Amino acid sequence: MLKKKNKRDIKRFSKQELWSIIDHSNLPKHVAIIMDGNGRWARARMLPRVAGHRVGMESALKIVEVASDLGIKVLTLYAFSAENWRRPADEVGALMKLLVEFLKRELISMKKNNICFQTIGRIAGLPGWVQQQIKWSIEQTCQNTGLILNVALNYSGRLEIVDAVKGIIKDIEQKGLELDKLDEETFSNYLYTADLSDPDLLIRTSGEMRISNFLLWQLAYAELLITPTLWPDFRQREFLQAILEYQQRERRFGTIGKLAQSK
Ligand code: IPE
Ligand code: IPE
Ligand code: MG
Repeated sequence: MLKKKNKRDIKRFSKQELWSIIDHSNLPKHVAIIMDGNGRWARARMLPRVAGHRVGMESALKIVEVASDLGIKVLTLYAFSAENWRRPADEVGALMKLLVEFLKRELISMKKNNICFQTIGRIAGLPGWVQQQIKWSIEQTCQNTGLILNVALNYSGRLEIVDAVKGIIKDIEQKGLELDKLDEETFSNYLYTADLSDPDLLIRTSGEMRISNFLLWQLAYAELLITPTLWPDFRQREFLQAILEYQQRERRFGTIGKLAQSK
């Protein structure tokens, strides 16, 4: 484990050094990422926003690879929010095309690396040709037992909660679910993430200090890590830095913490 005084050195370590310092027995099980800043990356280079999304897709491919190599159990990527439909139609169209391209390219490596592809969000609201590719990727990888690559598409944390409440009411009316027995665990089972543990670490790139309607319920006790790096520049080395920083946090879950206990 890295000593506190060496914390500032994290930024200087190479990928190999970071790999060897990381405590591989204390990895976050579930890492969620808000991949933000593609537009600003493009604007800084006087390129169209779509160029930022294209390079951002390369970052996503690289991050999936390192998360899988590291042995992370679940990686959730926020790729398209339910609010992102408010963007210009040509940008939305380009994002959909890039998503399908990502899935096609990723399929080969998912098969090779035992990665299982899943989605969260209202998939039925996506264009048919995008849905088809999603279905194909799930079918082709759902038996895999390694990293779960969970991509949030047409996703809204509030809508997810609304959908959960609808599911609960339906089961009260039709399956005899008892209202008195409804607790946090039962509620969680009605969310899109029913089969997944809550994220241990949330990374947001591009420096924005908000969660933009992402995993509102599930992030209750996640460690938050916000980096100014724009998503197209966020690559494997910085992901490993984030894991190392996570390992230096003390997660208290409302308790007084280890230091106070030892006094
Ligand atoms: C994130 O980058 C990608 C999506 C939201 C799909 P942005 O497109 O939001 O980039 P900025 O925030 O405008 O820089
Ligand atoms: C959040 O980024 C959604 C995704 C990364 C897919 P946005 O760029 O849409 O978030 P806001 O609008 O800045 O909050
Ligand atoms: Mg943004």
